[in-house]
Amino acid sequence: MTSPATSFDPRGAESGAVDDAPLLIARDLHHRLGGTEILHGIDLELGAGEFLAITGPSGCGKSTLLTLLAGLERPGSGTVLWAGEELAGRSERELSRHRLLDVGFVFQRFHLLGTLTLLDNVAMPGLMARRAPRREVRERALELMERLDVAHLAERGVGEASGGQLQRVAIARALINRPRLVVADEPTGALDSAAGTGVMEALEAVVADGAALVLVTHDDSVAARAHRRVAMADGRIVAGEPLLS
Ligand SMILES: Nc1ncnc2c1ncn2[C@@H]1O[C@H](COP(=O)(O)OP(=O)(O)OP(=O)(O)O)[C@@H](O)[C@H]1O
Ligand SMILES: [Mg+2]
Repeated sequence: MTSPATSFDPRGAESGAVDDAPLLIARDLHHRLGGTEILHGIDLELGAGEFLAITGPSGCGKSTLLTLLAGLERPGSGTVLWAGEELAGRSERELSRHRLLDVGFVFQRFHLLGTLTLLDNVAMPGLMARRAPRREVRERALELMERLDVAHLAERGVGEASGGQLQRVAIARALINRPRLVVADEPTGALDSAAGTGVMEALEAVVADGAALVLVTHDDSVAARAHRRVAMADGRIVAGEPLLS
């Protein structure tokens, strides 16, 4: 897949890739939800341009781990380093900026806004970044939707599309700001195998462009496409190689 013709770099000079150190390092992450410890010490590393798959039974903590890696939540204890710098040391404002510009999150339950059209859902993080004119952001949004085969739904609302279509819209939204890290929680969960392959090709194109991808899946054929795989069980990594060698 080729880069869209109307390209823009929402991060400007901040976007230099870190090639010699892992882009993301998690050290001894512990996390509690509702009084229960869900993660019991996770160590994980991810390089730029790398695709890591995480598998594991329902309830083992995969989605919880993704929220910590993406900086959506602060870990109960342990550290997440982004390009060598600890996320917990950042202010709320800096963290929001990181989430908006550096990370594209594909949520398991999509989290699309019902009051906006699907095109506006995709474009919204691009508009919030305030780095390109509105017209350019909307063009890129439409191109991403075309790539994911949902452009014909651009003017529809969230209630007027299928689950699989909404999943692809959510992926387009995650990519709008050209994130250096894409975190995808079961991005093919609502798709048949043809649509799933299309989504994987779109995500792999982003990895080929140098972004890192962490993807949670229950589908073995999706996990098999990753450069590296780890398996979780009961809040721990129990198989695979979590660290870069
Ligand atoms: N807000 C919450 N309060 C209490 N417990 C929670 C909360 N959110 C999630 N949990 C529990 O934390 C555990 C891990 O949840 P998580 O969503 O990370 O699992 P998962 O591996 O992503 O599962 P699935 O494959 O079903 O998506 C589960 O036992 C879940 O019930
Ligand atoms: Mg989950």
